[in-house]
Amino acid sequence: MLSPQDNAILTHVGPDTPMGKLFRQYWLPALLSSELPAPDCNPVRVLLLGERLIAFRDTSGRVGLIQNHCPHRGASLFYGRNEAGGLRCVYHGWKFDVAGRCLDMPNEPPESDFKHKLKARAYPCAERGGIVWAYLGPRATPPPLPDLEANQLPPARARVSAFIRDCNWLQALEGDIDTSHFSFLHLGSVTPEEVTPGSFLEYTLRDRAPRYAVVDTEYGCMYGAWRPATPGHRYWRIAQFLFPCFTHIPTGVLGKKVETRAWVPMDDHHTLFFSMEEDRSQDPNREKTLVQEGYVMSRKMDNRDGPPLLPALPNTSDWLGRFRTAAHTDNDYGLNRERQRTTDYSGIFGIHTQDQAMTESMGPIYDRTSEHLGSSDVMVIRVRRRLLGAVRHLVEEGTTPPGVDEPWVYRTRSGGVILPEDADWLQATEAQRAGQT
Ligand code: FES
Ligand SMILES: [Fe+2]
Repeated sequence: MLSPQDNAILTHVGPDTPMGKLFRQYWLPALLSSELPAPDCNPVRVLLLGERLIAFRDTSGRVGLIQNHCPHRGASLFYGRNEAGGLRCVYHGWKFDVAGRCLDMPNEPPESDFKHKLKARAYPCAERGGIVWAYLGPRATPPPLPDLEANQLPPARARVSAFIRDCNWLQALEGDIDTSHFSFLHLGSVTPEEVTPGSFLEYTLRDRAPRYAVVDTEYGCMYGAWRPATPGHRYWRIAQFLFPCFTHIPTGVLGKKVETRAWVPMDDHHTLFFSMEEDRSQDPNREKTLVQEGYVMSRKMDNRDGPPLLPALPNTSDWLGRFRTAAHTDNDYGLNRERQRTTDYSGIFGIHTQDQAMTESMGPIYDRTSEHLGSSDVMVIRVRRRLLGAVRHLVEEGTTPPGVDEPWVYRTRSGGVILPEDADWLQATEAQRAGQT
């Protein structure tokens, strides 16, 4: 449970809010590179931290993220002409480059130097691994990009995607750090006998109430959730929260999996989820890993005779028109009561849609004064505490929050591992978490 004040601090992200200030210390994923496929392509409306911005790729391929309202008299630059190294407002022809400099003011006399006195608000962008990153912060020279492995894979192995979530960023993120819902929402109707014997999933299904250990780290916090495995051994699920809105989830095999998820606030009520992961379909050890994870069951869960997956919709140019799915609150996310009675725990098809339904159904901003947290929510509690602590230190003392100037702390991996009962989980997994296996 949180006080109304703390709930407001954590969930409001506008420029003058405490959490908004914290977010503005970091580089954030803003778009997929593929949304701006070529030089001088169509501009894109981007809603980020409550700010309305226009993204464009100029003639030389550089990406700009500029204020929506033209600095002249406020027409939207979305309608602008993206041409010859800048975005030109079609109202009176003022033209701006990716840094916000005014390149041309054709409705002013040639002797006027007005254009040199004026600058549009434009945020630095950097492109890496199929993601356009943006820095909305106060520094003239932005900090380094976080050293996230999943964002630095060779293009042939990098898989990036995005989906909108119609709710506040924090409740969306909290779904990623709460390991116990996995055995219910996603696997509630699957029995241990149905999955590969000796797989992670078998252990997950035999004991649906894991014990947690949570620790603070340089990048945020990490949990290990364990259940009994073979005699004398435990199955540990290890996952991370990384400031300000990244997660490394505990599925897969620790040390083998490279994946980062980001829950980027568009505004207080909408979140853009980015997934960056390694495509391992060509990996010769893939089949072995799948068996270890118990993929036999996943295959069943994803592909058994059900309704077709509710697909991703084409992007529209609306502020909230990017990366929508056909599954939505208006169609109850495709809920099928018959399947819920007979084959599926939730009756909703697909892991992502199941998560979406639960977190959006909590309301645009969940009122955390009315929740009742149990022992399985210990990671959720710790992440909120870390965020609140970092916000207070930043706002009251000007302390730079974790990770901003230490990009290397982001180089860490998550996943599952079998350890002897008496092993120290932190020590025993150090090399795998560092990717040294
Ligand atoms: S409003 Fe954009 S040039 Fe006048
Ligand atoms: Fe989930």
